[in-house]
Amino acid sequence: MTADATTGTRQAVPWRLDCHVAAADDSAAADELRRALTAARPWVPARWFYDDAGCDLFVRITGLDEYYQTRTEQALLDAHMDDLVAVHSPTELVEIGSGAARKTRAILDAMERGGTLNRFIPFDISPGAIAASAADIAAAYPGTRVHGVAGDFARHLSRIPRRPADGRRIVAFLGGTIGNLDPPHRRTMLRRLARLLRPDDVLLLGTDLAHDPEVLVRAYDDAAGVTAEFNRNLIRHVNAAFAGDADPDAFAHVSRWNARASRIEMHLRARRDIEWSIAGLGVVIPIEAGSTIRTEISCKFTKKAVEDMYADAGLHLASWHEDTQGRYAISVATPS
Ligand code: SAH
Ligand code: TRP
Repeated sequence: MTADATTGTRQAVPWRLDCHVAAADDSAAADELRRALTAARPWVPARWFYDDAGCDLFVRITGLDEYYQTRTEQALLDAHMDDLVAVHSPTELVEIGSGAARKTRAILDAMERGGTLNRFIPFDISPGAIAASAADIAAAYPGTRVHGVAGDFARHLSRIPRRPADGRRIVAFLGGTIGNLDPPHRRTMLRRLARLLRPDDVLLLGTDLAHDPEVLVRAYDDAAGVTAEFNRNLIRHVNAAFAGDADPDAFAHVSRWNARASRIEMHLRARRDIEWSIAGLGVVIPIEAGSTIRTEISCKFTKKAVEDMYADAGLHLASWHEDTQGRYAISVATPS
């Protein structure tokens, strides 16, 4: 693991990036991937979607007609952030899984209008995504300190800088990313997020809601095939990181609704027999024609499920905002 502090000076606006994720010496990530691929039901941890190409593909997903989540969350943020800032006067925004940090601007704008904005801390597995968004945001919000942290949110949240004694923070976890964790990991994650909060701080969470399965399946299987390409890019990323040899086009994209678990599941299904040799992990994975590798889950919530999740982490639901079609919600939680 490395902890380089890199400073960028594009447009002569300073920002900072601490990096805790260098593929070459991150043996914990390699071990996790090897275990996942050699499990009885092979899967791949979702972080492997997000190399630079994957981050670009994800930005394209967020603009798809079928992917209603992003525009719905954007509208909810536009409508409700001024109130949040008026009530809590936050001085800094910590965003987990910030990606291209586009929706982030709705929060930063409200903080700027409220006159409280002091620091932005984007946290993501992709150093490239942080570097690009940090430079843009540092330029767009002069006087705001931008301190990026590249890390795995399952391992490196403790590397987030401490807030000043007189500061108040919003910790934002948007995009429905909490739903990409299974219940035990979700519980752990929320407890860790709660630990980033002091009494005057708030958690801002975006959750996709359980509704029409057809609409949900299409959100993860668009007509233009962008999501399919995003899914296959994960093979490309693993090949590049660990000298693997699988042909991404030998896999078909699968999106299906699991009603019992209230979640969308994404798989890659082998179109033919495949022997995936991954030299850097020291494994050869045999994949029979028709069998699948699970690449993502995306759990869909109810208000009650979110309240229960907060309660388990010692948090308390302070406000809930959903769109008129009941498809997506943002909520605010405070330490109880
Ligand atoms: N917040 C953005 C992006 C959501 S996509 C939006 O709402 O549109 C999920 C983001 O989480 C990606 O930017 C990805 O790089 C990041 N991510 C995925 N797994 C991660 C992990 N284990 N640790 C840290 N970041 C992760
Ligand atoms: N957090 C996003 C979601 O669950 C991630 C996502 C969107 C995703 N589309 C995807 C992950 C397609 C894998 C494949 O909605």
